[in-house]
Amino acid sequence: MCGIVGYIGNSKASEVLLKGLSYLEYRGYDSSGVALMAKNKIEIFKAPGKLNNLRDVLSSVQDICNKSTCGIGHIRWATHGLPTELNAHPHTCNCGSLVVVHNGIIENYKELKAELEKCGCEFKSQTDSEVAAHLIAHEFSKCKDLLKAMTSAVKKINGAYAFCAMHRTLPDRIIVARKNAPLIIGVGEGENFIASDIPAIIEYTKKAIYLNDNQVAEVKKDSIKITDLNGKILENKVEMLPFEPVALSKMGYKHYMLKEIHEQSDVARNVLSGKLKDSKSQITLQDVKLSENEIKNIKRIQIIACGTSLHAGLVGKYILEKFAKIPTDVEASSEYIYRDTIADNNTLVIGISQSGETADTITAIKQVKEKGSHVVIITNRPDSTMARLADSLLPVNAGIEVSVAATKSYMAQLLSLYLLTMFITQKINPETIKDKEIISLKQELLELPNKIETVTNDTEKIKAVAKKYSSFKDFIFIARGINYPTSLEGALKLKEISYINATGYSAGELKHGPIAMLDETMPVLAILNKGLVYDKVMSNCEEAKARQAKLIGVSNFIDKKHKDLFDDVLLIPDISDTLSPALNIVVLQLLAYYIAEYLGKDVDQPRNLAKSVTVE
Ligand code: AGP
Repeated sequence: MCGIVGYIGNSKASEVLLKGLSYLEYRGYDSSGVALMAKNKIEIFKAPGKLNNLRDVLSSVQDICNKSTCGIGHIRWATHGLPTELNAHPHTCNCGSLVVVHNGIIENYKELKAELEKCGCEFKSQTDSEVAAHLIAHEFSKCKDLLKAMTSAVKKINGAYAFCAMHRTLPDRIIVARKNAPLIIGVGEGENFIASDIPAIIEYTKKAIYLNDNQVAEVKKDSIKITDLNGKILENKVEMLPFEPVALSKMGYKHYMLKEIHEQSDVARNVLSGKLKDSKSQITLQDVKLSENEIKNIKRIQIIACGTSLHAGLVGKYILEKFAKIPTDVEASSEYIYRDTIADNNTLVIGISQSGETADTITAIKQVKEKGSHVVIITNRPDSTMARLADSLLPVNAGIEVSVAATKSYMAQLLSLYLLTMFITQKINPETIKDKEIISLKQELLELPNKIETVTNDTEKIKAVAKKYSSFKDFIFIARGINYPTSLEGALKLKEISYINATGYSAGELKHGPIAMLDETMPVLAILNKGLVYDKVMSNCEEAKARQAKLIGVSNFIDKKHKDLFDDVLLIPDISDTLSPALNIVVLQLLAYYIAEYLGKDVDQPRNLAKSVTVE
């Protein structure tokens, strides 16, 4: 959450900062601001709302922008205080000599604020971050050394932070610090960069230093000095960034989300490529560093993730228990971290995260590593903090996902879990290579990309259903078994981008409470896959119909009973129950997309959300 950029060199800082911030908009987009080092003073410009508003502000102060070659910028996702201009970063001390941008949360900001107020500091915003500006300035007044002042300040701060600060009297440097929030220093020739994430600086340099927790750094245009919190000088290695400059394009689609939904067939091909050759071969996962013995010693599996990644994990539980026969728990990272969880060196922990930067999941992973569990990370960002913590890495290679609502990364996570399950299963019992169900699952996985294309190539019926139901204010999505997580994910997609109240529910649980809400104003969407639970779900649909709910079915076959019971049925190609979550979800993503589109919502940047959630 929140994006930070810094620049010091010979080019126009405002241009580097604005471009950098545009690549960080996925981290938040409710307000933005920059501070530019000018002659004997620091100029600050801020704007509430999207980055374009800041662009407009800066275009009216070209004389200042033309001269400044050093500055810091920020794009905000509000945690404390409304998304107003006043609360936008950078924040300053009383006299405006010191400016700071912050990503994270200062947990003890109230206590610090009270102390600073006693020293005469006057607070203008409702943010926790403003405390940092006053605190660093206060420390600076004692030592006149900005690196030392930052070090002393962060020692007093509890919580998570990436800071970037400048002082009017020291125009040749930017000081940064990090703890539990990402920050990299891009290394250039006669210029250096600072950013929360690689895309913000990759156009300028491919070399970077990853700042670690509890490190501070002084960045000048031709030097970088890093120290620990005791002032000891450190030598972090300069790494090559694993990225090409990203040409972000919608390729003719109206939104990134629609483009990313359509990319899923190729994503599926990518994920499988090199890992699944044919239906009779073993699965190859080069980066999973678990020996046969270690796998045989696994007594339990814990999957930890948030949001959409958590839903992928829930599908993982079904298949891991079905094929590998290992008890598997799935838990939201935010719930996992603050209780006495049981994990040891016989526990395999699977962390799933599109961004690899989700604070809750990172904290959970750190905890289980201390308990000796082997951690496999499934992520779309092999350069992320989580990937760096992994014992084994499963990069999903979905390509950059711009839309805040995750779609293609979910597909990639799901398929990676199928591969990992079969990998573990074959290690436990090599004979399963001959198992008919596994052979057939492998065959189906190979056929999946074409089936996804069948769904994405013919969206007319989905569009019509979206239009018909777009005026409803509430929805309930039901399913049983392996598609129960699909109902959760389908409902999440609808909520996120249309703001319609949609709930995913286990179909069998409907009668234990939620059925009380059903009437003609609440449509029920049911996932109806041929298989073990089909008849049961059909009975649950009958119960809903008896309460006059409108019924939409998503099914992989035509049953004459559908006609009487359902108002609308969306057909998908035939697929086994086991792999059906990977196809059903495409229909639900498209349905959510077209409903939001009919309602004229900001599909790619829905209100209140951010793509990378780096605060607990
Ligand atoms: C998905 O559409 C979301 N925006 C959100 O739930 C997301 O999946 C969640 O924040 C987890 O993110 P991660 O996969 O990057 O860890």
